[in-house]
Amino acid sequence: MLVLGIESSCDETGVALVDASGSGVPRLLSHALHSQIVMHQPFGGVVPELASRDHIRRVLPLTQEAMQGAQRTLADVDVIAYTRGPGLAGALLVGAGVACSLAAALGKPAMGVHHLEGHLLSPFLSADPPEFPFVALLVSGGHTQLMRVDGVGSYELLGETIDDAAGEAFDKSAKLMGMPYPGGPHLARLAMSGDGTAFKLPRPLLHSGNLDFSFAGLKTAVLTQAKKLGDDLESRKADLAASTQAAIVDVLVKKTLSALSQTALKRLVVAGGVGANALLRSQLNAACRQRGIRVHYPELAFCTDNGAMIAMAAGMRLQAGLVDLQRLQDRYTFDVKPRWNLSEIQPAPVPAG
Ligand code: KG4
Ligand code: ZN
Repeated sequence: MLVLGIESSCDETGVALVDASGSGVPRLLSHALHSQIVMHQPFGGVVPELASRDHIRRVLPLTQEAMQGAQRTLADVDVIAYTRGPGLAGALLVGAGVACSLAAALGKPAMGVHHLEGHLLSPFLSADPPEFPFVALLVSGGHTQLMRVDGVGSYELLGETIDDAAGEAFDKSAKLMGMPYPGGPHLARLAMSGDGTAFKLPRPLLHSGNLDFSFAGLKTAVLTQAKKLGDDLESRKADLAASTQAAIVDVLVKKTLSALSQTALKRLVVAGGVGANALLRSQLNAACRQRGIRVHYPELAFCTDNGAMIAMAAGMRLQAGLVDLQRLQDRYTFDVKPRWNLSEIQPAPVPAG
C-alpha cells in the first residue's frame, strides 16, 4: 500500500511517499520539500496569496522529485493524501486540488488528513518510534496543545493555549527585537550567547492549576522591556532573547510535567516546529530522565511542516482501519477546513470532503 502525502497548509510545500503495507510502522520511501521562508521574509510574515501561488508552482515538480527519489511512478501509488486543514484556505486548496486531480486521473482514492495529526504522528518517522499511549506536546507556529494519545485517532485534549501559540510568542518577540521571519530559530540562536535570568519576564498561567497556556502577555512584556532598554537594546539583545526563551520554555516544561503526572504516562512525544528548540529539548530531557519518562522527538527535518508526516498519518489511519477506502473511491469533490479541531476527526473516518 503506497501512500503519497501532500502538505500545503502554510509556507512549506511537501510531498512524500510511504509504504504502509502490513502492520508495521509505515516506511518513508522518499520526501521532497520546498520552504517559502525566503519569499515571505521581506514582508515579515506569511503573505497568504503569495503562499498559494508558490504552492502551485512547486507541488508537481516536488511530486516528481518524490517519485524519482523512491524510484516509483504515480501508477504505483494506491492512495493520495493531502492536508485538509487547519491552515490558510488558499494554500490548502492547492494541495487538495492537486491531490484530488491526481487521484481522479489515476483512479485512486484521495483522503484528507488533519495537519495536527500529521505533527502528532511525525515521531513515527524516526528510527526509534514511540509506542502508545503517550502524552504529546504539540508546539507549532499556530498551535500549543497537550494531548493524551492512546492510539491512532484517539486523542484527548488536556490543555491548550487560550491566545498565542508558543511559536507565535517566539516569532512576535523576535520581530520586536528586529529579527527576520520566522524569528523562533533566530531568537534561539541569539539566546545561546545571552543570560536567561537577565530579565524577569512573566510566566502566564504557570500556577493556574490546569494545563492551559497563555503567551499573549509575554510579547507585551518583551516590548516594554525593549522600550525601557532604548539605545541599550542592541547590546542587551542576547540577554533579552535568552530571557524570552527561558520564559516560554519554563511554562512549556512545567505544564508538560504536570500532564505526565496527571495521566501517569511514562512516555512523551514532542512535535511541531518549536520542538526543534534546543533549550526545550534539554530541559525536557533532564526532567524526564529524573522521572523515568521516555521522550520522543521527530527528526529535526520533520519538526516543521513537511509531506512525510501527512503521508505517515494517512498510512497509520489506513492501517488502523479508520478509513473507508471504498467510500472515498470515485469521490473527488473536496473542501478544505482552515479551522478544524482535532477532536472533530475521531473516532470517525476522515470524510471524503
Ligand atoms: O510546525 P511549524 O512548521 O508550523 C506550524 O504548523 O505552525 O512550526 C513553525 C514554528 C515557527 O513559529 C518557528 O519560529 C518555530 O516553529 N520554530 C522554533 C524553532 N524552530 C522553529 N521556535 C523556537 N526555537 C526553534 N529552534
Ligand atoms: Zn505545522
